[in-house]
Amino acid sequence: MSHKEQVRILCVEDDHLLARMYVEFLEDAGYAVETAWDGETALAVFDPERHDVILLDYALPKLNGMDVLRELTRHVSPPPVIMVTANGEEKTIVEAMKLGASDFLVKDSRAGFLQLLPVVIERTLEQHRLAREHKKLEARIWQRQKFESLGLMAAGVAHDFNNLLTSILGNASLALLDLEPGTAPYSNVKHVEEAARRAADLSTQMLAYSGQRRFLMQTLDLSELIGQIHDLIQTAIPEKIRIEYDLAHPLPHFDGDSNQVQQMLLDILTNSAEAIGESEGVIRVRTGMDTIPCEDLSDAYINDLPPGRCVYVEIGDTGCGMDAETRDRIFDPFFTTKFTGRGLGLAAVLGIVRGHKGAIQVRTDLDKGTTMRVFFSCEKTHAAAPAPRALDASSVADTSAGHHKTVLVVDDDPQVRDVTRVILERYGFIVVTAADGAEGLITFRNSPDAFSLALVNFSMPRMDGRQLFQEIRKLRPGTPVIICSGYSEFEIARRFVEESPTAFVQKPFQAHTLIEKILGALGARK
Ligand SMILES: Nc1ncnc2c1ncn2[C@@H]1O[C@H](COP(=O)(O)OP(=O)(O)OP(=O)(O)O)[C@@H](O)[C@H]1O
Ligand SMILES: [Mg+2]
Repeated sequence: MSHKEQVRILCVEDDHLLARMYVEFLEDAGYAVETAWDGETALAVFDPERHDVILLDYALPKLNGMDVLRELTRHVSPPPVIMVTANGEEKTIVEAMKLGASDFLVKDSRAGFLQLLPVVIERTLEQHRLAREHKKLEARIWQRQKFESLGLMAAGVAHDFNNLLTSILGNASLALLDLEPGTAPYSNVKHVEEAARRAADLSTQMLAYSGQRRFLMQTLDLSELIGQIHDLIQTAIPEKIRIEYDLAHPLPHFDGDSNQVQQMLLDILTNSAEAIGESEGVIRVRTGMDTIPCEDLSDAYINDLPPGRCVYVEIGDTGCGMDAETRDRIFDPFFTTKFTGRGLGLAAVLGIVRGHKGAIQVRTDLDKGTTMRVFFSCEKTHAAAPAPRALDASSVADTSAGHHKTVLVVDDDPQVRDVTRVILERYGFIVVTAADGAEGLITFRNSPDAFSLALVNFSMPRMDGRQLFQEIRKLRPGTPVIICSGYSEFEIARRFVEESPTAFVQKPFQAHTLIEKILGALGARK
C-alpha cells in the first residue's frame, strides 16, 4: 500500500465534469477523494479527522471559495487548503493566501494543470507537516522555559520563606518555654507554631515543584507501593467513590523516592475524588509496563524518559473532566478552580515527575472524566543513592545543657542568626555569630580552640557552608560542625563527598530539635 492511498482529499468543485476528472486522475495517482458541489455542502461534510487536504474552487454557488476558506481556518488545526482559480488573478491569489490558503493552482488546460496537482498536493502536505512540527517544538521550548523560570522563582521564594519561618518557629518554641501550658497565651503561641509548620509544608511543596529537591532513591515496585498505601488511599477518598485496582504483577522495578511517589499518587487521587465530588463515581488505578519510544507518549505534558522499558501508573476518574483552557494550566503553581484549593498539588506532581526523569500524560473530556498516566524509566541509568547517614540519638535538653560551651553560628540571614543565638543562650551556650562563610572563617581562625561546635548555614554568599566546613576541619580536625539548610538532608549529604559534617538541621527548626542535634553532635565527639 503506497502512503498516497492514505491521503484523503476533499475536492470542492461545482463543475461536475471537471470534478469527475479530478477524482479519476487523483484516484489513479493513489489518493482517496471525496467531492462537494458547493460551499455549503463542503462545510457540512468537512471533517478535520477525515480530510488531509482540501482542493477548493474559488467560484462556487451558495457560498463562494473565500467564505468557505474563512470558515475552514476557524478550526483549531485545519488541514491545508489549495485554492483553485480559473483566472489566476493576482488579487484573488493574494487574498486567498492572506486568509490562510497553503497554495494555489490556476485551471489552465494548456499547462496541463491536472498533471501538476500531485506535485502541489505533496508539497503542501510536506510544508504543513513541517509547520506543525515547528509549532510543536516552539510550544515545548516555551513550556520548558516556563518551568525553568517558575521553578527558579518557587525555589527562591521557598528559601526566603524558610528563613522567615525559622525565625517564627524558633521564637514561638522559645516563648512556649516560658508559658504555662493550658493558659490562653500558651495556646495562642501554639497556634502560631502550628501555622508556621503548615507554612513550612507549603514551602516544601514549592521546592518539590522547582525540581531542586533531590530524592532519596530506592528500588521500587509501583504495584507494591500502591498496595502499601491502600489504607491511606481509602481514608483520603470518600466511601461513595469506588476504587478499582488493576495492578500488574510482577512489574519491573524502578529507581524512585517512595515518599515522593506516594505524595504524587495521593495528589492525583485526591484531585480525581474532588472531580467526582458529591456524586457517585469510579477511580481506576492501573499499572503496567511499556517501551520507549512509544507513539502513545507524543502528547505527554513532559517527557524526560530515556529510551527503553518503563513502568506506568494510570489513574482515571469519572469526574467532571476539564476544558482545553483548564487542562493547559493545571500544572501551573497556584492555578486552581476550587474554592479551597491552593493549586499546588499538580505543581508538586510535576516537580516529582521531573525529578525522577519521568513523563506525565493527561487525557480529559469535559463532563466525562480525566485520566493521568505517569511513567518512570526502569532502565538502570543511575545506581540507587546511599541513604543519608543516620544521626546520633540525643538526650532531652534541659536549659543548662550547654554548660557554657561556645558555639559559632554562621548564617547570612540576621533574623535566623538572632533566633538561633537566643535559643542557644537560653540553653546555656555561649554564642559567637558571623554573617557569612568568610567572616565565619576569620572568627574561627582567630581562636580555633575556643569553639566547641560550629552551626553553619549551607547557602551563603562569599563562602558557602561546605567550603567553611572544609576550612574549619583543616584548622582543627574533628571540630563538630552542623550544617543547616532549607534543602533536605539527603540533598546536602550528596554534596559532602570526602568528609561529612557531624549532623544536619532542617530549616525551619524548633528550639528543642536544634538543641537535641547540638547535644548529639557534642556527644558524638567524645
Ligand atoms: N482529575 C481531575 N479532574 C478535573 N480537573 C482536575 C483534575 N485534576 C486536576 N484538575 C484541575 O487542575 C487544577 C489544579 O490542580 P492542583 O491539584 O494543582 O490544585 P488543586 O487541587 O486545585 O489544589 P490543591 O491540590 O493545592 O489542594 C484543579 O483546580 C482542577 O481544576
Ligand atoms: Mg489538588
